Amino acid sequence: MENLRQRILELKKSLNAVIVAHNYQRPEVQDIADFTGDSLELSRKCTEVDADVIVFCGVRFMAESAAILNPERTVLLSEADAGCPMADMTDANSVREWKERYPQAVVVCYINSSAAVKAESDICCTSANAVKVVESLPQDEILFIPDQHLGHYVSTKTDKRIILYPGFCPPHQRLSPRHIHLAKELHPDALVVVHPECTADVISQADAALSTSQILRFAKESDAKSFLIGTEEGILHGLRQENPGKTFHLLTGGLLCHDMKKTTLESVAKTMEQRRNEVKVPDEVRVKAKLALDRMMAVS
Ligand code: 13P
Ligand code: SF4
Repeated sequence: MENLRQRILELKKSLNAVIVAHNYQRPEVQDIADFTGDSLELSRKCTEVDADVIVFCGVRFMAESAAILNPERTVLLSEADAGCPMADMTDANSVREWKERYPQAVVVCYINSSAAVKAESDICCTSANAVKVVESLPQDEILFIPDQHLGHYVSTKTDKRIILYPGFCPPHQRLSPRHIHLAKELHPDALVVVHPECTADVISQADAALSTSQILRFAKESDAKSFLIGTEEGILHGLRQENPGKTFHLLTGGLLCHDMKKTTLESVAKTMEQRRNEVKVPDEVRVKAKLALDRMMAVS
């Protein structure tokens, strides 16, 4: 493992690269990264770095967002087939059909979507800023794609009428109130913190629903000593590293995003050695998708 880490550090220098990793990545991948974060932080960070190459350890829609925002830099995705099942639940044609059905609605698109879907949308959002983005819009009717649960969560925080698209994140949708009930029996004093991709039933029983980086901040700032976490298990690494005196348990076992776990140190090294998996977005899509991302960045 140490050899591999050394190799990656050498490649970073020779390529003038930065490595960014999502909070769900394997611990050793998070540890080799220059920056870790949630979708919003990573998108923003990628526009600030002084590097020729961005090595993105995450899933395709995230690397695509980095490429859309940074056309002058080379963006390499750590694993070519690391996708997002939720993002695959919609496509540009389907969004066009929904827009015809609801011509008066403004389209808010969760960043967990393809570049082509972003290009069909008015503005993007992430789990960290979805409420703020929706509230910033003058229109009263919002077509929210593709995550029905995040969309529903936003609808509980605003007076806007939110039309929900039926997408969802499989690992988060698996969580149920019963998991909270059972976990609370074992850890009665723990705070329950979940991701807003969870169902409304789960969110209503949690102490907070937050993006991954917001969960990390919440745990650090809280006086509580014990937490039950309702999101992908990769977040435990940062939580435990930053809070040695506190305990963290997942609400249930097997909260895994298989796509996030495809990236290994081996795949990062190989990607850099071969400059493989370059993410390119054709200009006709990129320019429109960038508009939706830029509008989001201006709000948050
Ligand atoms: P955030 O890190 O933006 O909260 O997103 C979670 C997620 O599911 C990314 O795929
Ligand atoms: Fe997609 Fe869910 Fe995996 Fe995030 S955790 S990449 S939303 S499947």
